[in-house]
Amino acid sequence: MTNWSRASWRNKPRIQMPDYPDQAALNAVEAQLAQYPLLVFAGEARRLKTHLGAVSRGEAFLLQGGDCAESFEQFNSDMIRDTFKVMLQMAMVLTYGAKVPVVKLGRMAGQFAKPRSANTETVDGVELPSYRGDIINSLAFTPDARIPDPNKMLQAYTQSAATLNLLRAFSTGGFADMSQVHAWTLGFTDAEDAAKYREIATRIQDTIDFMAAAGITAKTTHEFSTVEFYTSHESLLLEYEEALTRLDSTSGKWLAGSGHMIWIGDRTRQPDGAHVEFASGVQNPIGLKCGPSMEVDDLKKLMAKLNPENEAGRLTLIARFGAGAVGDHLPRLIKAVEEEGANVVWTCDAMHGNTIKSSSGYKTRPFESVLREVREFFGVHAAEGTVPGGVHFEMTGQDVTECTGGVRAVSDEDLSDRYHTACDPRLNASQSLELAFLVAEELSARRTAQAAQAAG
Ligand code: PEP
Ligand code: CO
Repeated sequence: MTNWSRASWRNKPRIQMPDYPDQAALNAVEAQLAQYPLLVFAGEARRLKTHLGAVSRGEAFLLQGGDCAESFEQFNSDMIRDTFKVMLQMAMVLTYGAKVPVVKLGRMAGQFAKPRSANTETVDGVELPSYRGDIINSLAFTPDARIPDPNKMLQAYTQSAATLNLLRAFSTGGFADMSQVHAWTLGFTDAEDAAKYREIATRIQDTIDFMAAAGITAKTTHEFSTVEFYTSHESLLLEYEEALTRLDSTSGKWLAGSGHMIWIGDRTRQPDGAHVEFASGVQNPIGLKCGPSMEVDDLKKLMAKLNPENEAGRLTLIARFGAGAVGDHLPRLIKAVEEEGANVVWTCDAMHGNTIKSSSGYKTRPFESVLREVREFFGVHAAEGTVPGGVHFEMTGQDVTECTGGVRAVSDEDLSDRYHTACDPRLNASQSLELAFLVAEELSARRTAQAAQAAG
């Protein structure tokens, strides 16, 4: 850490980053971004870290969700509103199940750069460089569209700023009123197909009615009408991250000002690589994706490098093994964490290990696999006596058909109807909320079991 600077990643091996053909254009964009205001304030990142510290002790639960990749073309206020709305609905249902506060963290306002498994893509015999997210190149399958263009960083910044502005307005301007959020959820459970979730919804309604009778409403109580909502994205395009990293005068520490939390992807977590180097020196909460190839020794090195002071809430380990594989990998990694006495948040990304190709040719994820991975994650933590801190979903508030299953069943044949993602398949609004109900039931059952055990 002693030799860290916001540019020290440049001396380390880098992968998954573009080679910009026009160096002068890149330099100009970096200089411009370095003048722009930061998107988040250091005090907010520290506050999120405090909340995540509570998550690590089981005193709060983490809900992280949003797009796989934000898109320039699909950017509009309804899309932001609807994703925010479903996340609030999910958070309320989860709060009811977990009986602890839910930390709400969007994959929003900066989630543009994508790591890819292959450097090129071939369609009908034509091979072009892969699409790497709207901050780097374009999705259209033409040679021009796939050339990395640094000016896209400026557009991503502007879109992130506008997104965050709207999220901040929604969070405090009356939109987040709890009784309103629950009224939306009742719209879901009142439908015939979702009747099995009505009991929980009714109990939440009773609680709201009781509080109102006792004088606790949006009018009287700040907590009832506002939420804290945080942003996160994968810190992949390091030229962009570096330009938005500044020294925070309050703490004397560096802040990645592009979002509250940044995470390191499963493909770029080499302990001596550029991405780990960059994240090691900023004070933000850091996420670290842990896939099946994560070795115990690497995890230990990464924990030492990313959280040398063992600060609570600093490091979130995002497990993404795939349904059926959690038991093969999570126990050894939990053991490594326990051996080091490391403070971490454990959360479950139930998306990235469950991507399959459907019979209709679309990349999809079955709802049942997503749910199964979450259940396996909870099961392993129960067996190990450790804290399952949260869940991580790729989701949208729109009514897309990208993942199969759920009560309003999306079939393989339906996928072509409204398949809009620029990258990985997302849960739609109904699937996301249904999952929250199922996870809430799981959390509730585990609380009851623990209480019974404690009683003797
Ligand atoms: C992602 O979160 O979109 C992603 C690419 O995940 P991972 O690094 O876990 O594959
Ligand atoms: Co993804």
